[in-house]
Amino acid sequence: MEPFKKKITYGSTQKPNNRAPYAQKIIAVSSGKGGVGKSTVAANIAVGFAQKGLHVGLLDADIYGPSIPRLLGIENERLAWNDADKMIPGENFGIKVMSVGLTTPKNDTPLVWRSSVAVSALMQFLDDVAWGELDMLIIDMPPGTGDAQLTIAQELSLSGVILVTTPQKLSTDDVGRAIVMFQDIQVPILGLVENMSYFIAPDTARQYAIFGKEGAKTLCEKYRLPLLGAIPLTEDILKLSDEGRLPIAFGTDATKTYYYKIIEEVEKRLKG
Ligand SMILES: Nc1ncnc2c1ncn2[C@@H]1O[C@H](COP(=O)(O)OP(=O)(O)O)[C@@H](O)[C@H]1O
Ligand SMILES: [Mg+2]
Repeated sequence: MEPFKKKITYGSTQKPNNRAPYAQKIIAVSSGKGGVGKSTVAANIAVGFAQKGLHVGLLDADIYGPSIPRLLGIENERLAWNDADKMIPGENFGIKVMSVGLTTPKNDTPLVWRSSVAVSALMQFLDDVAWGELDMLIIDMPPGTGDAQLTIAQELSLSGVILVTTPQKLSTDDVGRAIVMFQDIQVPILGLVENMSYFIAPDTARQYAIFGKEGAKTLCEKYRLPLLGAIPLTEDILKLSDEGRLPIAFGTDATKTYYYKIIEEVEKRLKG
């Protein structure tokens, strides 16, 4: 049991590298668990910022589960290189997009890579993509507290991280661990987003707290973090996401408002 007694240090991120000097602000969207809605939140807020006139890039750092191409309706696009031998990012909804999903021969080709290879791919997406000048680079992270999180924290000067959770304990427990890790490696946490906060029945519009209540609120109080917003589980978001028609562009006004509120809160915290 000796290894568990040692004080663990993850490496210093006090002076991170600046691998993305082309981006004014860099925001990572992370969580403890998979399936809580990181990619959906990342894609919608990226496009929301672009709707406000910003030049936005969206980097899909989830090498083993790249969801961004489908969310943005570009899952059939394939990667191309420019004359300077840089990868040309995909584009839709006014943002630039890079994902390992655009590099595989087919949409369903799995990448069976050791994590060191996955990390190198991530570095290449930072170094060798023709992003142009960006006001904001949003990074859709894989779940957890591993290689990808540490690498991003060490290689980029992050403006902050947004943590996504669902209300149930199994998710908030994991996000608690992610919070402690980001605090330990001195990455500012912009706040939490509670996704799938409650279910809105499509027929009656009644609300049901199927995953319990106040999971994110309790976490925010425990770790003194702001709650940036809450998004219900709706048929609108689910269907549009599957169809590559982003809710922030094609959703009902109510749906768009959930994401606008998060954007507003993030803006406040980036200024302050
Ligand atoms: N608020 C929501 N309402 C309905 N479906 C949602 C909502 N948020 C996410 N989803 C759906 O849940 C699934 C997982 O979301 P995703 O963003 O891929 O999670 P993660 O990136 O954390 O693994 C997707 O099918 C997505 O469309
Ligand atoms: Mg994802």
